[in-house]
Amino acid sequence: MVPDPKLVNGTCGYGYKLCTFKSFPIYTKGYRVTVGCLYHFMSEFHAHPFPKQLLIHRLMLWRALVLVCTYMNDVNALLMSLALDKEVREDPYPIYGEFRALGPMVRANEGFAVATNYVSSTQVLRRPEFVKGLERRDHYLATARPSRRKDFPPSMLFQDPPNHTRLRRSVSQFFLPTKLESLRERLRQIALKLFGEIRDSGQCELISSFALPLPVWVIGDILGVPSKDRLALQPDVSKIAKTLDFNFNEDDAVQKEAEESSERLITYFEELIADKVRDPKDDLLSELVSNSASLDEPLSNAESCSMAMLLFAAGFETTGNLIGNATAALCHSPSEYQNYLDGRVSTKEAVDELVRFDSPVQLDGRVVDSEVTLFDVTLPAGSFVITLLGAANRDDMIYKDPDLLSLARSGPAPLSFGSGVHFCLGSYLAKMELGIYLELLRELKASVSIKKYLRKQSLTLRGFEEMYITI
Ligand code: HEM
Repeated sequence: MVPDPKLVNGTCGYGYKLCTFKSFPIYTKGYRVTVGCLYHFMSEFHAHPFPKQLLIHRLMLWRALVLVCTYMNDVNALLMSLALDKEVREDPYPIYGEFRALGPMVRANEGFAVATNYVSSTQVLRRPEFVKGLERRDHYLATARPSRRKDFPPSMLFQDPPNHTRLRRSVSQFFLPTKLESLRERLRQIALKLFGEIRDSGQCELISSFALPLPVWVIGDILGVPSKDRLALQPDVSKIAKTLDFNFNEDDAVQKEAEESSERLITYFEELIADKVRDPKDDLLSELVSNSASLDEPLSNAESCSMAMLLFAAGFETTGNLIGNATAALCHSPSEYQNYLDGRVSTKEAVDELVRFDSPVQLDGRVVDSEVTLFDVTLPAGSFVITLLGAANRDDMIYKDPDLLSLARSGPAPLSFGSGVHFCLGSYLAKMELGIYLELLRELKASVSIKKYLRKQSLTLRGFEEMYITI
């Protein structure tokens, strides 16, 4: 039995009650000194599983006080905390301030840098010297390459022009605001049905009963995924999404699960695409395969399958997180929420600010294609640059009092949906879904309060595993 790496209710997969003694990370110039209990340290490393689980368990019984002193430059000390400290994962915004204080672009080590603020992240996402560079990435990522099969194409999200441009052109028309606005009433009906049960009972676990099912139903509807299959596909997508997380340890168990899930989804969508070719319906996938023939370079069935997987997956894990994060933000700012309920703020304004305030996608990355110097940091070709989208959205050079939720705020678009050629295809749809949820709360004049919650351990995709609310 492989212990579940995710810490649930303070025990590990073997039922060991984990130490709650807090460690004290202290940063002095270049040094990260941590004082804590060996048991706690082992439980920390146990949360980031290493092989030889049993060895760690034997060591965990030593409740010795230890002092761990590691030398690393400030950037690496902050990155270490970002990857390991649970408190930081619970609330990464204070440490983002420390990153920005180091400079707009900071080098972690040879070939690895971090864009810490709004301007530098925008540059990295928009400039041609920065690419996805899949062929330069050494480790296998199921999100990038859904299958190890040589004949199966990588995801559009990880491709670079010119092929990225060709693929994006084949689907962009389906996500135009005019097209999506024609679906608004349908989306509202789906949301009303899901919300009905919550309204009647006055309480629920929001993530499993609304925040995830809504985007799953919506993207399933748009793509033409049979309704009986939609929710059943969700766990596989979540397993694949886990590989996107930012941490130092490549977790073999997570990787293996992601690959198995990915192969299952490929089989499912290959059959669905074949169905659409045989018996086209009034949905995106049918149009994609029939339109494809008229494209200069038609999509192969494998490309249509890879596209279907991306659109399905990208469409709900993120939006589900957004609905959870928005609910938490409104509950922590009751006067702002009241302004919305009383109509002093429009749904559009509220949505834009909630997307900025606690974005479901916190970081992204690019590979340097040709040497470039940005903010006095020279980045050789092949370097990897992380863009801290969450830090950019709280940049006080761009937003006044960025750590305050202000629903009537105006200002430049946040980087929650990225920027440049890979700008999120579903941004309008995601905002529509959040808007419909907020309008349901307003119609009900719902006073929402969070009873209990469990945050996801992932940083890249920030959200909640569970959130028990009353309305
Ligand atoms: C709140 C919800 C969402 C957030 C925060 C989000 C965020 C993002 C971000 C940051 C990117 C850019 C990735 C990069 O540049 O590497 C992206 C790309 C993408 N998103 Fe979203 N997304 C959301 C919802 C959706 C929805 C509902 C769809 C629906 C299909 C979608 C489809 C896509 C696709 C297809 C791409 C790849 C675009 C490309 O590579 O050209 N996303 N998303």
